[in-house]
Amino acid sequence: MNKILNWGFLSTARINQALIKPLRASKRTLLLAVASRSIDSAQAYARENKISKAYGSYDDLLNDPEIDVIYNSLPNHLHAEWTIKALHAGKHILCEKPLALTLDEIDAMSSAAKETGKVLAEAFMYRHHAQTLKVKEIVDSGELGKIQLIKGAFSFFLNREKDYRNFKELGGGSIWDVGCYPISFTRTIVGAEPVEVFGWQVAGQGGGDVLFTGQMRFGNGILAQFDSGFKIPARAYMEIVGSDATLYVPFPFKPSINNEIILTRAGKQQKIKIKGQELYLGEVEDMCDAVLNDKSPRISLADSRANVATILAFLKSAESGKPVLI
Ligand SMILES: NC(=O)c1ccc[n+]([C@@H]2O[C@H](COP(=O)([O-])OP(=O)(O)OC[C@H]3O[C@@H](n4cnc5c(N)ncnc54)[C@H](OP(=O)(O)O)[C@@H]3O)[C@@H](O)[C@H]2O)c1
Repeated sequence: MNKILNWGFLSTARINQALIKPLRASKRTLLLAVASRSIDSAQAYARENKISKAYGSYDDLLNDPEIDVIYNSLPNHLHAEWTIKALHAGKHILCEKPLALTLDEIDAMSSAAKETGKVLAEAFMYRHHAQTLKVKEIVDSGELGKIQLIKGAFSFFLNREKDYRNFKELGGGSIWDVGCYPISFTRTIVGAEPVEVFGWQVAGQGGGDVLFTGQMRFGNGILAQFDSGFKIPARAYMEIVGSDATLYVPFPFKPSINNEIILTRAGKQQKIKIKGQELYLGEVEDMCDAVLNDKSPRISLADSRANVATILAFLKSAESGKPVLI
């Protein structure tokens, strides 16, 4: 189908900035509108970012017949509610990670997508990047031998006291915000779901975790570990250890246009160069392919659900102090 998709931002969230360039770079998209809880903030945002329409309520954006795709960049506790409303308003939705906070929410979102026939996909941008695809290709080719162990981390120092990430009731906590990445990366590389998890957390004042460490056991014998945190320096890595070689990914979640991953075999390092694309363009084009060409989104709703199921099992384990079978 030869059509330009009109996109609308649901909120003036900081992450929107990452989508503006790709939405203008793609030949199939037009960033048409932004909505905010306040008309002043919507208008200021629209002016600053040269967006032609500004709405002072989320419902007004949903009621605009010109909008085809909504980018849901609300805090995590609002993902389900507004995605379902937007689907029923006839919009396709690219919803930020994590897709939702409970499996019931995800099931309701999936049902709404099915009922309305609209596309719903989670905005896990790193999954579309050439580096992720290359890592998966190397692992699947058997070059590392039999995969035994996967480790990863994602942390940063969160110094905004009022940020929703600090409050459990708003979907806060480091496992939801950044831990979801090494969990997703590990599941993607293994190509299966963990059968058992065990996690420990340090809770912050707002109830969500500020530090989480977790272990996963997969049915095929692969073991995995990750950590995430808000009160430690910025770190991100993935390491995949096979019986014959190790693959180290220094920038797994925010790769740039030129990256290197490191394959170590018998003590010798081989640097593999990867030419990627602008990080957030992949999810925009994937959405266009799904809406315009009937292609299934790269990240299925079953995949998003399984990531959330793993996070929920980790939280249950951290609360009970016991391993949790999935
Ligand atoms: N993929 C990535 O690289 C990436 C990176 C960062 C964040 N994210 C995801 O994007 C989403 C937003 O994160 P962010 O850091 O961009 O959020 P943010 O800057 O805090 O913005 C969230 C926006 O939601 C609206 N909002 C509605 N109800 C709210 C409430 N009760 N509390 C706070 N804000 C409320 C506000 O917009 P209005 O005032 O305009 O209504 C606010 O600006 C999260 O789901 C996060 O996981 C993804």
